Amino acid sequence: RTVAVVLAGGTGTRLGLGIPKQLLKIAGKPIIEHTLAVFEAAPEIDEIIVLMATGHVDQAQQIVDKAGFRKVSKVIEGGDTRNATTRIALDAVGEGDVNILFHDAVRPLVSARIVRECVNALWTYSAVDVAIPSADTIIQVDENECITDIPVRATLRRGQTPQAFRSGTIREAYRRAEGDPHFAATDDCGVVLRYLPGTPIKVIDGSDENIKVTHPVDVHLADKLFQLAAAQAPRLTDRGYAEELAGRTVVIFGGS
Ligand code: CTP
Repeated sequence: RTVAVVLAGGTGTRLGLGIPKQLLKIAGKPIIEHTLAVFEAAPEIDEIIVLMATGHVDQAQQIVDKAGFRKVSKVIEGGDTRNATTRIALDAVGEGDVNILFHDAVRPLVSARIVRECVNALWTYSAVDVAIPSADTIIQVDENECITDIPVRATLRRGQTPQAFRSGTIREAYRRAEGDPHFAATDDCGVVLRYLPGTPIKVIDGSDENIKVTHPVDVHLADKLFQLAAAQAPRLTDRGYAEELAGRTVVIFGGS
């Protein structure tokens, strides 16, 4: 069984709109609806659990009901931090051996390919991350905003989501983290890296389009990317082919 956990417990302070950004409409739908649609359509996903920001659970449930997402089994309240939300999700998934994909609700442009590769990688690895190379040089700074290090760019990646785990691995990592008063992490692979050292965490290729809507400019960017995706949607040509452009899958219906 593979469960997708959609993390929507945040309030979007950096976007600063007064509503959680996952409820913001882009290309005619709330961001979270776009995100859920990807997992609903993914054949690798059996169940979806939504963790929503306090005070907005009903709104999220309404979006799910209206869209008719049948894989969504629970819409519940998240926690104060992203990791607190993950812990609540782990309880909600229940016992037993399952694959769990954690995905940011505010990455609505995640692709079917990324979801599939995450789930496939769990046959071999118990922890999987999604990342892209960094076009920018990444510098490390101290509290005075002075450079302390410039790591070699070729070794750096920018982490995205989903992050995927076998349930035993992520549960054990969080169980160990519980005893640490200095626990702090902004993602879930970081919890495995720190508390289950030695666990190989496989990285699969993300995409430049899989942006996290974080700042106002991202809203415009996401809107444009949805327009592009719509323009490239499968089309039936006069030769009887349904084709998707730009390196996506090409499905051939007819023969010669
Ligand atoms: N998230 C969550 N629970 C929290 C905080 C964040 O589930 N307590 C989720 C967000 O809803 C989002 C994802 O984690 O889908 C990535 O977090 P981020 O972009 O930081 O979202 P926000 O916390 O909403 O944004 P900000 O940091 O600007 O307040």
